[in-house]
Amino acid sequence: MSNNNNETDRGAGVNAAWGGRFSEQTDAFVKRFTASVSFDQRMYKQDIQGSRAHARMLHKIGVLDRQDVETILQGLDTIEREIQRGEFDWSVALEDVHMNIEARLTELVGDAGKRLHTGRSRNDQVATDIRLYLREQIGLIIAEIKRFECGLLEVAEREVDSIMPGFTHLQVAQPVTFGHHLMAWFEMLKRDASRFADCCVRMNISPLGAAALAGTSYPIDRDFTAEELGFTAPAQNSLDAVSDRDFAIEFCAASAILMTHLSRMAEELVLWASAQFNFIELPDRFCTGSSIMPQKKNPDVPELVRGKTGRVNGHLMCLLTLMKSQPLAYNKDNQEDKEPLFDTIDTVQGSLRAFADMIPAIKCNHQVMRAAARQGFSTATDLADYLVRKNLPFRDAHEIVGKAVAKGIAEHKDLSELSLQTLQQFSDRIDEDVFEVLTLEGSVAARKHIGGTAPEQVKRAIAQAKQDLSV
Ligand code: ARG
Repeated sequence: MSNNNNETDRGAGVNAAWGGRFSEQTDAFVKRFTASVSFDQRMYKQDIQGSRAHARMLHKIGVLDRQDVETILQGLDTIEREIQRGEFDWSVALEDVHMNIEARLTELVGDAGKRLHTGRSRNDQVATDIRLYLREQIGLIIAEIKRFECGLLEVAEREVDSIMPGFTHLQVAQPVTFGHHLMAWFEMLKRDASRFADCCVRMNISPLGAAALAGTSYPIDRDFTAEELGFTAPAQNSLDAVSDRDFAIEFCAASAILMTHLSRMAEELVLWASAQFNFIELPDRFCTGSSIMPQKKNPDVPELVRGKTGRVNGHLMCLLTLMKSQPLAYNKDNQEDKEPLFDTIDTVQGSLRAFADMIPAIKCNHQVMRAAARQGFSTATDLADYLVRKNLPFRDAHEIVGKAVAKGIAEHKDLSELSLQTLQQFSDRIDEDVFEVLTLEGSVAARKHIGGTAPEQVKRAIAQAKQDLSV
């Protein structure tokens, strides 16, 4: 059990909330083993928020009188302040965030505190808290994706006509613009943001009122609490409401996909920053040196993000396995949902922050990128297309260009460096105008349809993206 906070044994010596039925104390180790307060205390704000809504609802339906509800609300305010100031005495004996707060409330306000738990259970309470917490965190994640996207747009705009090799199989394929490459990253992030938003919509329903599993015999107003807490509606089935964690799985799946995208970007950054590629320079403040090799500048931040992807994938697997075969309704297994979920949130937020800060500060070595695009016969397809425009079938053109490439390889020359005479040995349809299509600029400019790499199209994509993001 972690001891990160000022947890004490307050509440020891009692079986906090179920003393009546038990004839012996919970084993000391079992208490620590079953406690979740060390990690679920991070949902204290949401727990208090849920309690406020529940208390107001109990008053509305006449279960709590005005005096009680006011006392409870004041007590909750005090507790919130105590926690924020680090003055709250978290107790492992009180197991979790819910019982810690409730016990303190009773300590502060007496009997009114004991009445708060009327018509609810920790089962609907925890299901509510996680949703509220995750909803807030998803908002922060989407905002951070947007900041990263804005940074990408800034660099893409700057590099809208910087030429680099485009790769397939990591072999030089065709020239592209760096701006176009960055806009591919932008597209991935756009889908990631929409996945998070989507998962939030399904998650945003209120389990409160499901109580332990079957609902409650009090005439509760579930619409009231749902609305108070900003949920779109009450959950429609009490058994499902307390046991469902698919929203957490969905969040981790969206996170795993996002991290997979970040790992792909990370991999490219690591490659590009190597001496062999030398396409970019990462800012020093995002790199570290070596204690033994004085020349080293290591791309630690992208490497770490790449590595953390494994961790988030693991959390997704963990939650899927946690849920698998669980009978309805709530099972204590579900307490195990929090650590993977929280670590996923932290990892995603940290990785996004690092990238959003780092990407706008990368420097491009334009000459090197350009020179690399000239290698590997990246305009060979352009020559084939040129011959097709001169009425050769594409397959024949492909064959002819293949031979010209073989000649280039033998003479250590790019296609654009072969003489017109040499090129004409392969086809008499080749004229002086061929050199326009063999240039890198000619090659990228020709791909000017929607989604193509031509600078004019990349500019259009950037303008559209800015409009979508309203920046
Ligand atoms: N700490 C528990 C959890 O995280 C709260 C619900 C416990 N309910 C119960 N009946 N033991 O899931």
